Amino acid sequence: MSWDFRKPGTRICVCYNTTNDQALAVWRGSKVPSVQQLTTQFECGRNCAMCLPYFATLLREYQLGKWPQDKATAADPNWFGARHG
Ligand code: FES
Repeated sequence: MSWDFRKPGTRICVCYNTTNDQALAVWRGSKVPSVQQLTTQFECGRNCAMCLPYFATLLREYQLGKWPQDKATAADPNWFGARHG
């Protein structure tokens, strides 16, 4: 299975062991959510900074209401195997 940075609980910042769940908790508790908050709180981005584009994408989708998706609306990867009739 491939790495899915949108999947809840996935570690996004390898250098500082920070998951997207941790980011989400910070953003949900903030009136002005930002990636900078993750740098301040968890150090994300202070080493290789490879995590920052992923956090930026998640934040944008979070602000648009597109992430996280609940299970009822999330795409089911197994639908190709569904049988009809
Ligand atoms: S992965 Fe976040 S600073 Fe390296």
